[in-house]
Amino acid sequence: MKQDLLTFADWTPAAMQDLLELAVTIKQAPGAYNNVLAGKSVAAFFEKPSLRTRVSFDIGINKLGGHMVYLDSQSGNLVGREDANDMAANLACWADAIVARVFSHDTLVEFAKASKVPVINALCDKYHPCQAMADYLTLHEAFGQVKGLTLAYVGDGNNVTHSLLIAGALLGCNQVVITPAGHEVDPAIVAKAQSIAKATGVDIVQSHEVAAANGADVIYTDTWLSMGDDTPLATIKDKFMPYQVNEAMMSSTGAKYVMHCQPAHRDLEITSSLIDSDRSLLMQEAENRMHGQNAILTHLLGA
Ligand code: CP
Ligand code: NVA
Repeated sequence: MKQDLLTFADWTPAAMQDLLELAVTIKQAPGAYNNVLAGKSVAAFFEKPSLRTRVSFDIGINKLGGHMVYLDSQSGNLVGREDANDMAANLACWADAIVARVFSHDTLVEFAKASKVPVINALCDKYHPCQAMADYLTLHEAFGQVKGLTLAYVGDGNNVTHSLLIAGALLGCNQVVITPAGHEVDPAIVAKAQSIAKATGVDIVQSHEVAAANGADVIYTDTWLSMGDDTPLATIKDKFMPYQVNEAMMSSTGAKYVMHCQPAHRDLEITSSLIDSDRSLLMQEAENRMHGQNAILTHLLGA
């Protein structure tokens, strides 16, 4: 039976750990995997802009011996031309997998129902699982292991936060989520992460106080306004500025590293100097997008 990757929420801790280890192996010995997708094609459908996800999937699929077709819904006006389920069923006639970046998670659920080939979430309003995969690979490299670490996310509770929570709970990484009031994470997704965390011994803390990050190993942040949110920056900037990730926050919390999925907004959610400092894991995260996704593709399509 085909398997989709929409959230990781239905994965076991052992399966998630195996995937992380596969990503490490593929990164170390890519030549051993250069035929995994031989003769296979992946359709990549993007309703929103992308630099990292689009390019890392395209180049990564090529390195696995496969081929990617990019469907630019932004200029091609594909959305609304036909039902999402008809689009997915058609794509599955030719492609061996569908990668999709969409506004609504419901579109992915429809795609997955209608498609006979795996559907991979390349970001939606609720989740960004491929990002979380790359981020935990990065932490594994930085600290030697993920289990027992504490990641403090500071900023807007969003799709990236949700996937860090789910994947972190599976991999044994404690989670502290610090947001301004009114910008918390989705309670239903926290409840799911809590149920995984109970089994893996992970602590999940939510707070509005930056001090809750004291003792964390790493501070993670993301844009204050996600794609599709047209709230004017001026209306939220004052509320978010105390949550800016900067040198003072790194010192007061004692965190060793800083992470950000990018695109980053210099001197808003994170200081420019911190991005460019030796505490920054940002480019390693970006590089690991490809290795993490190649592990996902190998797992879903390789056999
Ligand atoms: N981090 C990330 O998904 O970047 P893009 O939006 O550029 O793909
Ligand atoms: N939260 C951001 C992530 C971008 C990779 C967004 O959805 O725009």
